[in-house]
Amino acid sequence: FSAFLTDSFGRRHSYLRISLTEKCNLRCQYCMPEEGVKLTPRSQLLSTEEIVSLARLFVQEGVDKIRLTGGEPLIRPDVVNIIAELRKLEGLKTIAVTTNGMNLARLLPSLKEAGLNLINISLDSLVPAKFEFIVRRKGFHKVMEGIDKAIELGYNPVKVNCVVMRGLNEDELLDFVSLTEDKPLEVRFIEYMPFDGNKWNFKKMVSYQEMLDRIRQEWPGLEQLPAGGTDTAKTYKVPGFRGRVGFITSMSEHFCGSCNRLRITADGNLKVCLFGNVEVSLRDCLRSGAGEEELLQIIGAAVGRKKRQHAGMFNISQMKNRPMILIAGKLQRS
Ligand code: GTP
Ligand code: 5AD
Ligand code: SF4
Repeated sequence: FSAFLTDSFGRRHSYLRISLTEKCNLRCQYCMPEEGVKLTPRSQLLSTEEIVSLARLFVQEGVDKIRLTGGEPLIRPDVVNIIAELRKLEGLKTIAVTTNGMNLARLLPSLKEAGLNLINISLDSLVPAKFEFIVRRKGFHKVMEGIDKAIELGYNPVKVNCVVMRGLNEDELLDFVSLTEDKPLEVRFIEYMPFDGNKWNFKKMVSYQEMLDRIRQEWPGLEQLPAGGTDTAKTYKVPGFRGRVGFITSMSEHFCGSCNRLRITADGNLKVCLFGNVEVSLRDCLRSGAGEEELLQIIGAAVGRKKRQHAGMFNISQMKNRPMILIAGKLQRS
């Protein structure tokens, strides 16, 4: 495995998240401020060719999974083409996308045809009015259609990401678990995390332990499944249910020790940790005509500076970072 992608703690970074756009057709409260974010001028965003050539370099060095994120990746007009180009990279086993699901039902047949392997869909409420309050837009039924389409086209499991916020959707935990009774879903409850502009505070966060306790009251037989090594989620199953339930415990029990992720923002910065504010511009490097060796040196130096773990819940809530919408879609374990 490439030394450039191995950090000083021996973690091998074989999973790259690439943000395709800073734009989104929703306005989730936990992701961006109401007024939106200042968008980077188009000329400073990575072109399709730049995305593919960076991906090629990372795959050559040992990346075998790429997740496309955003913003909302499916609003990039050439997303199907990008997937088709990535599919040609030898050594790349998995192409995944994390989407809000709004355009999924419509686009999925062509995404699948181009080579998309895995789909994670954000859904924070099963009550249409509450969904619309959280995402500040309409569209509940489109997302549900997207989930059904993914199941219909054979994706299994389809992962559903639910950010749990106190006083907002914490009362829907059991309804979300019930979704896994008949559907091949992995519903993942995510601890609410702090990012610039999302007004996070400790009281709004519902911890893994609390969620688990509440679910166990209803289903005492809830059983934990073996851990997947580098997975963000701890997974469980209600015996007899078709799907699974996961918990992403970035706040209460970080999983930085097994982190294998790097991310590239839409404006071409390499970010070695979701909660880190040190970034290096691969775009500038490419545009100044740097060769492969020079790029690898820069990537290797950034990976080499990656910290052992994130700075802790309270420190990261005070640190300067990007709003989530401007990070490669999800957090990276750091
Ligand atoms: P899989 O590849 O299916 O495991 O997906 P994922 O969980 O890595 O990605 P997804 O985009 O679905 O993100 C779901 C949640 O995972 C995000 O809200 C983040 O909370 C969390 N997450 C993703 N990557 C990282 C990470 O590198 N660090 C931390 N702490 N959390 C992450
Ligand atoms: N806390 C936890 N998860 C978040 N996501 C976005 N912002 C936050 C936050 N503040 C999740 C979204 C999406 C994934 C990419 O990250 O729900 O599923
Ligand atoms: Fe858009 Fe995703 Fe952010 Fe919601 S969480 S505003 S869907 S990028």
